[in-house]
Amino acid sequence: MSKAQQVGQQVLNWVDDRFPLTSTWKAHVSEYYAPKNFNFWYFFGSLAMLVLVIQIVTGIFLTMNYKPDGSLIPGTNVSVAFNSVEYIMRDVAGGWIIRYMHSTGASMFFVVVYLHMFRGLIYGSYQKPRELVWVFGTLIFLCLMAEAFLGYLLPWGQMSFWGAQVIVNLFASLPIIGPDLSTFIRGDFVVSDVTLNRFFALHVIAVPLVLLALVVAHLVALHEVGSNNPDGVEIKKNKDPKTGIPLDGIPFHPYYTVKDIFGVAVFLAVFTTIVFFFPNMFGYFLEDNNFIPADPLKTPPHIAPVWYFTPFYAILRAIPSFLGTQVWGVLAMGAAVVVIAFLPWLDRSPVKSIRYRPAFFKWILAVFLVAFFGLGILGALPPDGLRTILSQVFSVIYFAFFLGMPFYTRWGQTLPVPERVTDTNGRRQMIFGILMLVTFLGAAIFAKLV
Ligand code: HEM
Repeated sequence: MSKAQQVGQQVLNWVDDRFPLTSTWKAHVSEYYAPKNFNFWYFFGSLAMLVLVIQIVTGIFLTMNYKPDGSLIPGTNVSVAFNSVEYIMRDVAGGWIIRYMHSTGASMFFVVVYLHMFRGLIYGSYQKPRELVWVFGTLIFLCLMAEAFLGYLLPWGQMSFWGAQVIVNLFASLPIIGPDLSTFIRGDFVVSDVTLNRFFALHVIAVPLVLLALVVAHLVALHEVGSNNPDGVEIKKNKDPKTGIPLDGIPFHPYYTVKDIFGVAVFLAVFTTIVFFFPNMFGYFLEDNNFIPADPLKTPPHIAPVWYFTPFYAILRAIPSFLGTQVWGVLAMGAAVVVIAFLPWLDRSPVKSIRYRPAFFKWILAVFLVAFFGLGILGALPPDGLRTILSQVFSVIYFAFFLGMPFYTRWGQTLPVPERVTDTNGRRQMIFGILMLVTFLGAAIFAKLV
């Protein structure tokens, strides 16, 4: 051991005597045994953490120049808040990239989290003993939606203002408490400077704190029970009698740290391509109307939320008002999110992974996906007769998928689940790796050419 290494070891020992540094690293990283058959779908947890960090860091820098002030600059119809965003984009050194990283990050967060949730769905990762991992996940999803909604008001453009107006007004349709609740959320009788100030406070500190705490709880719960895998086999059932290490487990570090770094590289290639070349993403990530300063006297002809909310927004619009109140749509939209949390108790299948479920389950899942994407598209379009009917059909399918689960997951013949994980032959992984590499190189060449 060199002198420098000796000093390093001494410092580490000193810290370890006072703080569980090495033991925590071992328990959660270098000696955390994860199933050896993780595939493509297992990239998105670590990517979600990456995007969380991007959002927090870029958010801190945006806060240094952003001003949550809805008052108008004298002689103009532009608010101080709107102007501060333009100032960041044009005058602050590096401001444009920070802002575009944050706005792109918001959408990419949802891309990554939707894929992460879908993985849970196909491999039954929410089933016993991972119910709490899933419930914490659903709470994270709720928080993420709140965070995105609050942040969207801050640029104080037309869509910020009118989007907030529409959504906060929804609360007013709740019985008894509704009108007072919506006034309480706004802090005023209309969306105003007061609303902007409180949304800013909630967006930059309150919700991120809860989000961080939930992510920690999510990971602590996961590490308590261990990760699921594409076969849905519990690797803890087969341990080496001598070492007590799962036979199908490999240490997270270095095996999955390396795999995740590859995922990060591919993700950053996509992310930076969007930031540099398509920051508005054709109006899907940043809407055209939001480049117009908020005008409380001029309602835009078509108000639609950002893409990640549109499936739920379509469910809201699909339910007609009944007994003179819109509350049923609001309740249905809320239920569409809440029902996700109950998956662990709705799914009664004896097997976890889609690989060993009856073939018709795959068809049910495919129909559900069509309905979910259909709702997403319909929620972004202005409603008309046919679109409303389609939204209603898709909403019924959406809820039938969840509420029918206790029944259809018990039907049919499941395939025998193997004792040990199966997907260790390298061929599929290799083909996949080559495909990823080609994509990565293609993106690099494309970026160079453009
Ligand atoms: C900020 C958002 C989130 C972060 C940072 C995050 C992070 C992670 C990480 C790092 C893992 C372990 C690696 C992996 O399995 O991919 C994981 C696993 C998991 N997450 Fe999340 N997650 C988030 C949101 C969610 C949501 C919204 C859900 C579901 C509603 C969810 C459900 C799960 C489940 C079920 C697992 C275990 C998967 C398995 O073992 O097969 N997560 N999460």
